[in-house]
Amino acid sequence: MSIISKDISKAVALLNAEEIVAIPTETVYGLAGNIYSEKAIKSVFETKQRPFFNPLIVHISSVDYLSQIVEHIPKKAKLLAEAFWPGPITLVLKKKNTIPDVITAGKDTVAVRVPNHTTTLELLRQLDFPLAAPSANPFSSISPTTAAHVETYFKDNIKMVLDGGACKSGIESTIIGFENDQPIIYRLGSTAIEDIEAVVGEIQIKNKKEIAPDAPGMLERHYAPKTKTILTDNILGMVDQYKGKRIGIITFQSEIANSNIEVQIALSKTGDLAESASKLYDVLHQLDKMDLDVIIAEKFPEYGLGKSINDRLSRATK
Ligand code: TXA
Ligand code: MG
Repeated sequence: MSIISKDISKAVALLNAEEIVAIPTETVYGLAGNIYSEKAIKSVFETKQRPFFNPLIVHISSVDYLSQIVEHIPKKAKLLAEAFWPGPITLVLKKKNTIPDVITAGKDTVAVRVPNHTTTLELLRQLDFPLAAPSANPFSSISPTTAAHVETYFKDNIKMVLDGGACKSGIESTIIGFENDQPIIYRLGSTAIEDIEAVVGEIQIKNKKEIAPDAPGMLERHYAPKTKTILTDNILGMVDQYKGKRIGIITFQSEIANSNIEVQIALSKTGDLAESASKLYDVLHQLDKMDLDVIIAEKFPEYGLGKSINDRLSRATK
């Protein structure tokens, strides 16, 4: 029997009983549990096979709730929360003592966001506690953007996927930490840097070597299909190199005429980066099921969400 359901009250009952439930967000599906239940949080880590040193994101229902989670809100954090929440930005701030150490992997900071999804906002409003939720995929594999993706991964391990349709943004939230009250990007994501800079001024991207392994989203191999995957700005050259193999390609807009290609998918025929981001993981899931020898992806333009798409594709190729 399918574990996919639209029944919010069923999700409330399970979460109140310290069980975990997969929930929809605008970015990717999350594997959620009560932040104050040791049992639920332990089962999030175990189900995902996620190492305990990797902290989780706390999901809250409104900007007002933030002061119950964090100790201090820098001015620029407040500006970002007001500008983008509900939405795909996660803020890493000094945690309150009441936030359990298992959520933060012992760190004195906590990651928090308000997801922009009506079903999950309604769910959060019906609960007396926030939800900790990493992306609902086994550690290092492709993140899920539909309820069916989650069911394929976890049908034997969890009781319910709360169905909220396909995720609109399609890649994870942009994570922003604060050092001396100044924002710094820990992980590229669904909110473009240019949009963030319009609110807080110029912002640096933290060197990934400095963050890993604290932020597994920053680990070099992550978001990865099982099929060998290559990111290139010379698609035809690569296709030539793999001649005779079963080749799948992912492009931004263009169709490529070449008889060596078995399957090709353009992420946005109109050249829309947001549309491309929303389809990226689903296309990777599809191609990964086709028994191909290689997936060759075209490099996206290095601006806006193109930067975030390139980040995920490059981690899929390691
Ligand atoms: O869009 C998203 O952010 C999705 C949805 C479900 O909200 N969640 C998500 O969670 O991508 P996850 O666990 O796959 O990635 C969370 C990232 C990890 O890289 C983790 O290390 C980082 O957030 N993180 C969490 N707490 C942190 C902290 N205190 N300091 C630095 N990084 C932190
Ligand atoms: Mg993840």
